[in-house]
Amino acid sequence: MAPGNLARDQIVAALREAGCVFAEDEAELILAAAGSVDKIASMLRQRVAGVPLEVIVGWAEFCGLRLTVEPGVFVPRRRTEVVAREAVARARPGAVVVDLCCGTGAVAAAIHAAVDGLELYAVDIEPAAVRCARRNLEQLGGIVLEGDLFAPLPEGLIGRVDLLVVNAPYVPTDAIALMPPEAREHEPRVTLDGGADGVDVQRRVAAEARRWLAPGGQLLVETSRDQSVRTCEAFAAGGFTAQVRRAEDIDGTVVIGAAMVASTGRATVGSD
Ligand SMILES: C[S@@+](CC[C@H](N)C(=O)[O-])C[C@H]1O[C@@H](n2cnc3c(N)ncnc32)[C@H](O)[C@@H]1O
Repeated sequence: MAPGNLARDQIVAALREAGCVFAEDEAELILAAAGSVDKIASMLRQRVAGVPLEVIVGWAEFCGLRLTVEPGVFVPRRRTEVVAREAVARARPGAVVVDLCCGTGAVAAAIHAAVDGLELYAVDIEPAAVRCARRNLEQLGGIVLEGDLFAPLPEGLIGRVDLLVVNAPYVPTDAIALMPPEAREHEPRVTLDGGADGVDVQRRVAAEARRWLAPGGQLLVETSRDQSVRTCEAFAAGGFTAQVRRAEDIDGTVVIGAAMVASTGRATVGSD
């Protein structure tokens, strides 16, 4: 196989046969990323075997940025751009931003690209994700830490975080079997599994988030349309207001809240 029209047609045909819906676009990306004929063949073999294209070519686009993606790391999804958009709309220059469950660090990188002078932290429990996020974020001045949710954050951040952005795993355990093989077989379970109803990790986040937030600080958690009610309940249980924001263009859903004022003792749960 050699680069050129014939090779391109062969690649497209093989990708189509393997069920790739955007076979033409994928073929272009493989041809652009592969430096040799052997590399093209190897990339094509991986793709036909179901490895995510982003892992094969080594990058994913997110909010117009090109982010490094490594094997074993969750591939940033387009729908998550709603979290970045809403965070950017709320971030002032110099804000303290924490991206919990950061994966590649896509959300943090997108906020950094739009807002000046951020103090940026990111956390993930998976060593592969931490390595990958360091490649994406350290060049931006971000600090990437490995561990369970808030555990690795420096104590000096308590009460100082302006925006806590979170895309924790939220697939209900039983639904993982129904996911496309690309996700089910190539993204570690810890990146997907949100427990019986999908909200276990979100509940833990909401239960501990208050003490980390600065006065007026906000919590933004990605969820699905169907699970947003449960995510709002987790916010309320953690002492947060909760508002659902949807981005229909990318089918993205995020719940946003701030600490409830003690005197009201009630959550505002709503959507728009
Ligand atoms: C759905 S992926 C999202 C990744 C990234 N935020 C994004 O939007 O592309 C969830 C991430 O949470 C991480 N994770 C799961 N449980 C965690 C925990 N207890 N503490 C920190 N990170 C965790 C996974 O390793 C995975 O990278």
